[in-house]
Amino acid sequence: MGLIVYFSTRSENTHRFVGKLGLRARRIPVSPADGPLEIKEPYVLVVPTYCGDDGRGAVPKQVIRFLNDADNRSHIRGVIAAGNSNFGATYGIAGDVISAKCQVPYLYRFELLGTDEDVANVKNGMERFWTSQHSNAL
Ligand SMILES: Cc1cc2nc3c(=O)[nH]c(=O)nc-3n(C[C@H](O)[C@H](O)[C@H](O)COP(=O)(O)O)c2cc1C
Repeated sequence: MGLIVYFSTRSENTHRFVGKLGLRARRIPVSPADGPLEIKEPYVLVVPTYCGDDGRGAVPKQVIRFLNDADNRSHIRGVIAAGNSNFGATYGIAGDVISAKCQVPYLYRFELLGTDEDVANVKNGMERFWTSQHSNAL
């Protein structure tokens, strides 16, 4: 089973969601002082959406910095985005941005901490996804 790489701010909604998955996971640091995260194996990125009032900046800058590293970028296989549907048109839009930029599938979207159903869907989905990735590689 592949790795989850995720970002979460101090509100830690995404952190709690990823904790409930019980999968191997690494966190992109909030503070640059904690140094860059370097990943050397395939992973699925889980990212919360943070648009400014002008609808820009959906992808947190820490995540942009992480993906600007060519090695890190080469290992992304899919993206899962979090958000809050109160934001309407920009709900989970960080997933669309990353999917387009990195040419990987937008696998799932959930709100805030996610429901039990979201946790089950992502757990099952990850298992199927990594199995299919493996057979594609053969
Ligand atoms: C300033 C701000 C802007 C946000 N913008 C969006 C948005 O455009 N679309 C969306 O779906 N959610 C948006 N959200 C909601 C967050 O994505 C959501 O609260 C998420 O669970 C935060 O994850 P975290 O606690 O792991 O950082 C925004 C939240 C904040 C505080």
